Amino acid sequence: MRRITPIIGVAAAATAYLTVASLADITGSAHDFSGSVWANGEICLPCHAPHSVASPGAGPLWNHAVTTASYEVYGPDPGNPYPTAEALDEGSILCMSCHDGTVAVDAFGGGTGSFTITGDSNLGTDLTDDHPVGRSGEYPSHGGFVDPALWEDTAGHGFNLKEMIIDTVPTPVVGCGTCHEAHNRNNLDYFLWVDNAGSALCLTCHNK
Ligand code: HEC
Ligand code: HEC
Ligand code: HEC
Ligand code: HEC
Repeated sequence: MRRITPIIGVAAAATAYLTVASLADITGSAHDFSGSVWANGEICLPCHAPHSVASPGAGPLWNHAVTTASYEVYGPDPGNPYPTAEALDEGSILCMSCHDGTVAVDAFGGGTGSFTITGDSNLGTDLTDDHPVGRSGEYPSHGGFVDPALWEDTAGHGFNLKEMIIDTVPTPVVGCGTCHEAHNRNNLDYFLWVDNAGSALCLTCHNK
């Protein structure tokens, strides 16, 4: 976060400063591609654009190509891949449009791109070895979970559940964006909403 001392302490100016500062935390993070030639020197452009976006309706002013992969989800029936929208909530589909390795990182603005994520950050299309999200992340599916209403009272817990249509029923689910925040708003490792020291992130939901 930049340390700028406001010259005049007007409330409106302070609010504007805070808004800018929280989004600016993406600067220098793993999601800041502005140093790469292909990103045109811009931070937001690979994911969002102000006009004529490449994937209207897929997400907020979404300018990146969107995955069409099928996914094996966490649960009892591995080997049974679900089509994209039946496997994942909308926000998770946006993340997987880089993190499943089927769509190039630089596939934005209508281009097809040239390189994909390798290594641990490539989750692939087999999600049976990952924390349940989307179809398998219904909340709560049984006892032992903290009431989401209590999250509001706990400082730093900026995360929320996502809604997804599962077999025609709108259902609250855990998505990638429940635990992570793409813009590094809280300045924590791995773009988390909540520091996982002492498993604090896990204990926010799991009443153990
Ligand atoms: C690596 C991809 C990526 C980059 C880069 C990125 N965003 Fe986002 N942004 C997302 C995703 C994904 C969402 C949707 C989050 C969700 O639905 O969980 C989002 C949502 C948003 C939203 C709407 C919801 C919210 O969080 O307020 C705004 C506004 C936004 N981004 C602004 C920006 C701006 C401004 C920049 C550049 C400084 C930027 N983003 C850079 C991925 C990105
Ligand atoms: C435009 C492509 C793109 C999109 C969209 C995108 N990411 Fe990433 N993300 C990347 C790249 C590239 C890296 C760096 C990978 C590496 O270093 O191996 C990365 C890194 C990460 C990391 C590791 C951060 C670290 O500090 O090591 C996390 C966590 C992450 N992304 C989560 C998400 C989530 C959650 C979403 C959706 C809300 C998302 N990403 C959307 C491209 C993307
Ligand atoms: C229940 C919370 C939770 C959910 C849901 C979740 N993650 Fe994570 N993720 C974490 C934590 C915690 C880490 C930190 C590393 C670790 O503990 O393995 C992490 C690490 C990562 C990394 C870095 C991997 C590495 O080893 O460097 C990426 C990339 C990532 N997550 C992407 C995603 C994407 C994409 C989704 C949605 C499909 C997702 N995460 C859903 C909690 C979550
Ligand atoms: C946002 C809420 C949330 C957070 C945070 C969260 N979980 Fe979960 N977790 C769920 C939901 C919802 C399920 C799927 C429902 C179920 O248990 O069948 C689940 C499932 C699991 C399961 C599988 C249970 C089974 O029956 O197979 C394990 C293990 C687990 N979580 C561990 C963790 C760990 C470890 C963390 C921290 C890194 C974590 N969770 C963070 C909500 C959460």
